Amino acid sequence: MDIRRAKEVYESGGNVTDYLRQARGQSRNDAEIIEIAYDLQAGSYSSAALKNADRLESYADQVAAILSPCLRDGDVFLDIGTGECTTLAHLERRLSSSLGRMLACDISWSRLCYGRAFLDHAGCRPVDLFAADLLHLPLQAKSVDIVWSSHALEPNAGNELAAIEEILRVCRSCAVLFEPSYEKNSPDGRARMDRLGYVKDLPGAIAAAGGDLLACIPIREPQNPLNPTHAYVIRPPASDSANTAAWACPVANDRLGEIDGFLYSHESGLAYPVLKGVPILRKSAGVLATVLDANTTIPA
Ligand SMILES: C[S@@+](CC[C@H](N)C(=O)[O-])C[C@H]1O[C@@H](n2cnc3c(N)ncnc32)[C@H](O)[C@@H]1O
Repeated sequence: MDIRRAKEVYESGGNVTDYLRQARGQSRNDAEIIEIAYDLQAGSYSSAALKNADRLESYADQVAAILSPCLRDGDVFLDIGTGECTTLAHLERRLSSSLGRMLACDISWSRLCYGRAFLDHAGCRPVDLFAADLLHLPLQAKSVDIVWSSHALEPNAGNELAAIEEILRVCRSCAVLFEPSYEKNSPDGRARMDRLGYVKDLPGAIAAAGGDLLACIPIREPQNPLNPTHAYVIRPPASDSANTAAWACPVANDRLGEIDGFLYSHESGLAYPVLKGVPILRKSAGVLATVLDANTTIPA
């Protein structure tokens, strides 16, 4: 693990994903690189949000205006790549109080820790936080109504189709993704997105995954003009199935049961830890622990 060196790069103002891709001889960001790069930033979004609430307020106004017409009473709402929940916290108070359960995940556990504190500080309604890779969501098919993202697919270049397929797998009603548009970007902006390993051709991935792109709306005054946010409003392919939004194994996709403080999959035999109240539902976090199976006697 090259965490110590990555931390030095971060602290000296360098780009951690650039450094890790080069150090590992990779051309794309993978889950581990994304996790390290964002985990090292934990706390930075919270302090920036406290210092610059006006920008977030204006962004949240625009997000809510696009999102609200898609929501129905009782809808289960999922924020993927929530980071420190700073945008979610500003959005939450603009959403109807009759919305159903709210869920939010990120690949970085450290950022979710800050996220919990930020949501509490903002006095938000309860949000179920969990650590997960958005390419392998620990939820069963068609178990959430609305999937929302804000610059979360962004560093996952090369996995555009896998990300959209996974979102549409769990989503029943509508996915509204606020992500940078490569195609609508300037030549300088595109070069920057190429260099950072940012996504491109989301409309192509949406069509290939069977989604219907209802609208692609540019956001006014993006934080960085070289990274212009667009709202992709997507209807998933029609389906009659519906499942409860309960935790599912990211490997076998069966519903997880709680045993001795772990979340356990009878299908895969994997147990997932819960760290400071946040379930870590990543494939890499699963521990093979077949002794936790209901039919086995656990030695004292
Ligand atoms: C630019 S930040 C945006 C955070 C938040 N949505 C906001 O608006 O402040 C991107 C976030 O997406 C998360 N992310 C990126 N790729 C991910 C993946 N494959 N699975 C889960 N989270 C991911 C990162 O860890 C990071 O917290």
